[in-house]
Amino acid sequence: MTIADMQAEILRLKKETGVCILAHSYQAREILEVADVAGDSFALSKAAAAQPHPAALLCGVRFMAETVKLLSPGKRVMLANPAAGCPMAEQMDKELILAARAQYPDHAVVAYINTTAELKTVCDVCVTSSSAVEIVRKLPNEKILFLPDCNLGDYVAKQAPEKQVRLLQGGCPIHAAVSPEALRRARAAHPGALALVHPECLPAVVALADYVGSTAGIMQYAKASDAKEFIIGTELSIAEHLQYECPGKRFYALSKKLLCPNMKLTTLPDVLLALRGEGGEEICMEEATMRDARKCVDRMIELSK
Ligand code: 13P
Ligand code: SF4
Repeated sequence: MTIADMQAEILRLKKETGVCILAHSYQAREILEVADVAGDSFALSKAAAAQPHPAALLCGVRFMAETVKLLSPGKRVMLANPAAGCPMAEQMDKELILAARAQYPDHAVVAYINTTAELKTVCDVCVTSSSAVEIVRKLPNEKILFLPDCNLGDYVAKQAPEKQVRLLQGGCPIHAAVSPEALRRARAAHPGALALVHPECLPAVVALADYVGSTAGIMQYAKASDAKEFIIGTELSIAEHLQYECPGKRFYALSKKLLCPNMKLTTLPDVLLALRGEGGEEICMEEATMRDARKCVDRMIELSK
């Protein structure tokens, strides 16, 4: 079967089965091409509930599929490749958060959306990289406990100086592996290029960037900019997608380390098998987990209006 044949079969099957395909922007081009919605984690979480389809197939990592299920409890939600998880989402457990809550009772507990549904049950609100600053600013609390990504938390703290932000030490091993030296080297190699960086990168890398933003923010900025060359400081696929979409511009990956193996686990055959009912995994959670975790996600949506 060629890629085109497989894509045609996927399009036919999703129509026949009423499945909506949601794909994170870090997915491969051939998956984005068959998706109903492609975007960053914020766009996917909002789109999930708005889609009329009775079922959704998430191409990305597990916490994203859980978020879709929380927002659409009546839908059948599948994760295309059950092995695809985000290591950051697994870094902290409920006990750790409950202990931190007890230690800092006057803090609002803000969780990055890259957390398990289980962890969200003990947090007050969650945020995505594109909504974090706005939501933290809107919270009535002056004191914030931000988890698990201390790099994103540091960025939020600097953008919202009116808040006291306490950080727990976790983060994305992929983005955090990039050093400021790597950015200096990339700038030396491409002196005219603008550096666009995800806030999951180290503060020392973020400090050297021309623009800091979520996956969607980086893509929008690059497309709208008059500049012709860009160093892309987020997962490698974004430089590739931008190069495809903007042939008149040049995009350079900040570092080859920016490859998320979990995001790359999902393949086009996985999508096809899941639609045929021969692969993927249906996301199922206990009622109490769904109820408590949903409060955290609902608050994010409410505060980002
Ligand atoms: P976005 O919120 O920008 O989609 O990022 C998700 C993610 O996993 C980044 O590494
Ligand atoms: Fe998780 Fe980092 Fe991969 Fe995003 S890039 S899914 S935060 S490991």
